[in-house]
Amino acid sequence: EKYDFGLIGLGVMGRNFILNIAENGHSAIGYDLDKAKVDALNTEANEFKVKGVTALKDFISGLAKPRKIMLLVPANVVDKALDDLLPFLEKDDLLIDGGNSHPNDTERREKEIVGKGFRYLGVGISGGSEGARHGPSLMPGGNEKSYKLVRPIFTDAAAKVKGDACVTWLGKGSAGHFVKMVHNGIEYGIMQLISEIYDVMKNGLSMENSEMSAIFKKWNKGLVASYLVEITADILEKKDKQQGGYLIDHILDSAKQKGTGKWTSQFAMDFQAPMPTIDTAVSMRHLSTFKTKRLKADATLKGPVARIEEDKATFIEKMEHALFFGMLMTYAQGFELLRIASNEKDFGLNLGEVARIWRGGCIIRSAMLDDFMKAYERVPQLPNLLFDTKLSSAVNKKQEAVRDVTIQVAKAGLPIPGLMASVGYFDAYRSGNLASNMIQAQRDYFGSHSYQRIGEEGAFHTEW
Ligand code: 6PG
Repeated sequence: EKYDFGLIGLGVMGRNFILNIAENGHSAIGYDLDKAKVDALNTEANEFKVKGVTALKDFISGLAKPRKIMLLVPANVVDKALDDLLPFLEKDDLLIDGGNSHPNDTERREKEIVGKGFRYLGVGISGGSEGARHGPSLMPGGNEKSYKLVRPIFTDAAAKVKGDACVTWLGKGSAGHFVKMVHNGIEYGIMQLISEIYDVMKNGLSMENSEMSAIFKKWNKGLVASYLVEITADILEKKDKQQGGYLIDHILDSAKQKGTGKWTSQFAMDFQAPMPTIDTAVSMRHLSTFKTKRLKADATLKGPVARIEEDKATFIEKMEHALFFGMLMTYAQGFELLRIASNEKDFGLNLGEVARIWRGGCIIRSAMLDDFMKAYERVPQLPNLLFDTKLSSAVNKKQEAVRDVTIQVAKAGLPIPGLMASVGYFDAYRSGNLASNMIQAQRDYFGSHSYQRIGEEGAFHTEW
């Protein structure tokens, strides 16, 4: 008897995802060269119809045809894994890359593999190891008919929000990996905003970890309810087993990355999509790695006393609004990038569907996504979430608090570049008249680059 689904790469993600599939009644076979990983899967297999093997030929011969094979391997070994696999495949076999691959790589691989008579899908998977095991958000892209081969399996394995599966075919080519990449860009933005709020609570309001944890817990029931806020509350109360005290206070303030946030910013630059909160979040990961330089600058560059003078409870309430505002700007930027990219790359994305499948399973799931889904139901072609009447009136109500937080924190000299970028983005976006006429004049002044005149056709140049 043959297995329905094959999975290559039995790291934690792979093992959990294959167990999830098997638990949902689809037989699955996993392959990994590492015997320890294969053994780990076989020990956990229980009564499920799932098995791990270390020999590629056992894996291939164990699969029902056309074979459906997903790779869950690090981005830098996908090409190698595909090369190893191709000689064993037969026409119409389906290969699925479930990793965080660069969309350009996905497009190249799809062309190559489909050219050889096989099928190919690039699928974004979000939710970490927990999500993989109990329901991730799945973002498939590629040929729609190929997707139909795995649709029942994906639908069963995906996270459910009130019975609704967090998966849908997103579009052709690299649509799935592109959407996943932007998901991660938004993830970077929200993580940056939360870390800024944490900084202000800790250093501006001298709050204890347990106190901060309690606030994030409370917030998680309201406006900013989200997975990232929820785990922040958990993180803040975790004690350190090694040295005592809280674990968070023993962690070095130098943030790593695997590239998806940076790629989001790079695509946004190429497509001329403004995304300052996310760009700032990427930059801040870079700045955070300047630990030695920052320590040196700390000794010479003086700022004000880092203290928020306002009544603590009042200020905390304003910060909740500030986080809501920043998160909304981050999502608005990410969704607008998706809109622009979809036109550029002809993905035909349905942004309401993107919001729908991000409501559960993924890292950026939040209560707000429900509102975004509804916003796109009202106006499917909405160019930016800020044009939705419900969301814009929510933003308008929060404005005062956000500005107040920004001013007071700026006065105290604590770094909140993500929040500042969000406020700047909002104010620029709602400016019917920007000062960019000055930029045009300067360009013409020093480089004869010409300018347009208001209400007139053609290009003008002045001998300044
Ligand atoms: C997810 C996450 C995941 C990603 C991590 C780490 O959706 O489950 O986005 O895919 O690998 O978030 O990303 P960085 O190492 O770039 O921070």
